[in-house]
Amino acid sequence: MAALLRASSRTVSKALGDQTRGYKVAVLGAAGGIGQPCGLLMKMNPLVTELSLYDIAGTPGVAADVSHVNTGAQVKGYAGDAELGAALKDADVVIIPAGVPRKPGMTRDDLFKINAGIVAGLTEACAAHCPKAMINMISNPVNSTVPIAAEILKKKGVYDPKKLFGVTTLDVVRAKTFYAEKNGLETAKVDVPVVGGHAGITILPLLSQATPAVAMTDDVIDALTKRTQDGGTEVVAAKAGKGSATLSMAYAGALFADACLRAKNGEANVVECTYVESTVTEAPFFATKVTLGKEGVEKIHGLGELSAYEQKGLDAMMPELKDSINKGVEFAKSM
Ligand code: NAD
Ligand code: LMR
Repeated sequence: MAALLRASSRTVSKALGDQTRGYKVAVLGAAGGIGQPCGLLMKMNPLVTELSLYDIAGTPGVAADVSHVNTGAQVKGYAGDAELGAALKDADVVIIPAGVPRKPGMTRDDLFKINAGIVAGLTEACAAHCPKAMINMISNPVNSTVPIAAEILKKKGVYDPKKLFGVTTLDVVRAKTFYAEKNGLETAKVDVPVVGGHAGITILPLLSQATPAVAMTDDVIDALTKRTQDGGTEVVAAKAGKGSATLSMAYAGALFADACLRAKNGEANVVECTYVESTVTEAPFFATKVTLGKEGVEKIHGLGELSAYEQKGLDAMMPELKDSINKGVEFAKSM
């Protein structure tokens, strides 16, 4: 993160010369396990001039705390429905980690019942108060919450598929860490694309495209793939009832939001894996590498050449991924 901030600062000092202001970032669910550290990391991002921390309760305290960090962003806490509009007004990027996390034994889909309604309500507010914002959806199940948000934005007549993202950065962060550890590589120099969705077998690391390339046995590839797919469950089990990944997710969420901000700010070649409306496969939403630009998605990259193992993984995920997407679409349509 320190390197990220240094690099970001360099980009910003070059870019801010012809810019009158930075960006407004809103975090919804800002008093939660992800929201608090994510808010802190966004306060440290030099592209952020206004940081809006919203939750149903608890945000005045979080905002007072974060506001003492000696960086430029002005921080304000907003609590409860009545303040949601002000929290979102003219936001450039909205990060959404609002909703309940898993407990051991649960799937991400088990969160649908509670989180679908939360995400729908918050997206409706985005449509009303910041219709041009880039929305970074973290709330699970991402495979369904992104389609829900898309349908809500469509209903409100403001859907821009270039600006709605399911945040799958944590899968990439994990894949890079595990690949580097296994092969004795320097973690910061490793890249591993992760495609598909964000749940179990829908998470597909493309280890055949990892760089630097390393020859691995089938068993090692299988183990690394499964560990990436089960990374969330590994943390849920270790936390033993106290929630799911929060710190690594805040880091991943801040990385992805930083990528959106840098792209908005005119930086070229900003490429991230993210879950977007896509025609790369038969699934209407799919995560691949995406080039981000000032207006959001600039180019959705293809899958590249897959190994036989990866092709099998891709085929296997499709029914689940499409079901999760349909479930989200149907929920939003029935509202
Ligand atoms: P948490 O319970 O610690 O925090 C969630 C926060 O959301 C709470 O502060 C709660 O008050 C708030 N909230 C609830 N309803 C809200 C509403 N209507 N408006 C605003 N805020 C509201 O949970 P957490 O650990 O921070 O996880 C949040 C979500 O992120 C979960 O759904 C979890 O599964 C998901 N998650 C996703 C990823 C990913 O890779 N995309 C990774 C980790 C966690
Ligand atoms: C993760 O991948 O850590 C999150 O999706 C949270 C979870 O429930 O596993």
